[in-house]
Amino acid sequence: MTDSRYYAFQGLRNHARLIQSVHMRDLFAADRHRFARFSVTHDDLLLDYSKNLITDETLDLLLQLARASDVEGWRARMFAGEAINATEKRAVLHVALRNPGQRPHFVDGRDVSGDVEDVLVKMGVFAEGVRAGRLVGATGKPFTDVVNIGIGGSDLGPAMVTLALAPYHDGPKVHFVSNVDGAHIADTLKPLDPQTTLFLIASKTFTTLETMTNAATARAWIADSLGEAAVGAHFAALSTAIPKVKAFGIAEDRIFGFWDWVGGRYSVWSAIGLPVMIAVGEADFRAFLDGGAAMDEHFLAAPLYANMPVLLALIGVWYRDQMGFATQAVIPYDQRLSRFAAHLQQLDMESNGKRVSKNGEPVLRPTGPVVWGEPGTNGQHAFFQLIHQGTDVVPVDFLLAAEPHENLSDHHAKLVANCLAQSEALMVGKNERTVHAELEASGLPRPEIDKLLPHKVFPGNRPSNTILYRKLDPFTLGRLLALYEHKVFVQGVIFDVNSFDQWGVELGKQLAVDLLPMVKGDVETEGKDPSTTGLLAHFHALRGS
Ligand code: F6P
Repeated sequence: MTDSRYYAFQGLRNHARLIQSVHMRDLFAADRHRFARFSVTHDDLLLDYSKNLITDETLDLLLQLARASDVEGWRARMFAGEAINATEKRAVLHVALRNPGQRPHFVDGRDVSGDVEDVLVKMGVFAEGVRAGRLVGATGKPFTDVVNIGIGGSDLGPAMVTLALAPYHDGPKVHFVSNVDGAHIADTLKPLDPQTTLFLIASKTFTTLETMTNAATARAWIADSLGEAAVGAHFAALSTAIPKVKAFGIAEDRIFGFWDWVGGRYSVWSAIGLPVMIAVGEADFRAFLDGGAAMDEHFLAAPLYANMPVLLALIGVWYRDQMGFATQAVIPYDQRLSRFAAHLQQLDMESNGKRVSKNGEPVLRPTGPVVWGEPGTNGQHAFFQLIHQGTDVVPVDFLLAAEPHENLSDHHAKLVANCLAQSEALMVGKNERTVHAELEASGLPRPEIDKLLPHKVFPGNRPSNTILYRKLDPFTLGRLLALYEHKVFVQGVIFDVNSFDQWGVELGKQLAVDLLPMVKGDVETEGKDPSTTGLLAHFHALRGS
């Protein structure tokens, strides 16, 4: 660790001791401009970070850490197309996928923005053909249903975005199949007609076990009902592995490519976004890309102290590294963002769930948090009890639209009131004096009050950010997603990990390949630990195999 990073961490550690005894209520009471000073806007998008356990000094120290970690240098290297994914020797250039033509993006000295635009144009022709009924199935019927088969980044991003943009859907119905559990594809296909179903096989590598298994089942479903010759008309592929796709039987004009500098968890902006484009149309998909590009410009241009992704990242580092808060909840008060947290789980945990630093040394500090969440208000009636009164502090990001897509009586006003109430309650809490007065006013006898009182006290001082935007439209969704991508990037730089590989998912994959013949009973169980051996034996006993 460089001296400057060491001193930055040291400064934060000393400061954290002081902050332990501070209550946010007092910070607000002492500074009536706290909201104005601790919030930042990007057009209509507002990040309110005032309800955090931070002071000016905390931010100064965090900004020192950001500079000492060379966040600006790494940001420049990423945008310049340097191979910052060192373990895989790859550039990390998903930013080049957004709004090509606005600025050149170079990989190995070559501007790739033309390639990006070419694929987008090809996607547009295909998507609009499907939407208009010009591209049809083998029996001449237009496609009513599109089934995306993919997993991880080849599923979570497009599934999340498709759901989020439901009000913009005017194309065929889009379904997502990811799990190798046959229940997933079986339940999805049950109501569908092979004649009007188009499959998109989404896999960067075109080797992923789950996707290849589901793709084979889908292929057989089409071939069995429409004949082998129908397969070509009912499949397209989104992949970087063109020869493997061709071997599967998908023609070149039905292959939408991308590049090894697009990580799976960042790939929704690429050809992997085709199901989104088919659902909402090319123009809205491009508006989503524009939103991402707008956040890229903000991330590049805004000074660190007014830079939304940087601020979100630094506050997260403060909690994870100095306060020991292990998890981060993301609670959109926006039902259509109900898969947002699931997408962020891959984005954040696959990126920063690392135990060694960039140069392979064990990290001596915490790295990425556990990310989780569900939409509000549902979460309030499930896990908010723990967030308000549990023994762990869970920093929360609230996301909220000012305008709904539906004007249904006062639904939206109630949604907004609940969101604001939660962040207020988390911050302010409810002290003994207030609880006591309420219980007394309810006429409860003194001994009962004493018993009940501790259960009804809320400590407050629980942190949250609120991200408020005008409406969940394609542009705003693009900004929100890019905001979190850059947040995770900045945190990875500060944690000093490679955020762009995912070796941790490999061991389980290898062992599954090894175990499959034992599960199928093709070979005897051997070389396995006693638990695995016992589980296999019980499995075979249950199956009578
Ligand atoms: O197993 C993890 C992973 O490699 C993810 O990073 C990726 O998004 C997912 O699998 C799917 O990979 P592919 O698109 O190559 O099928």
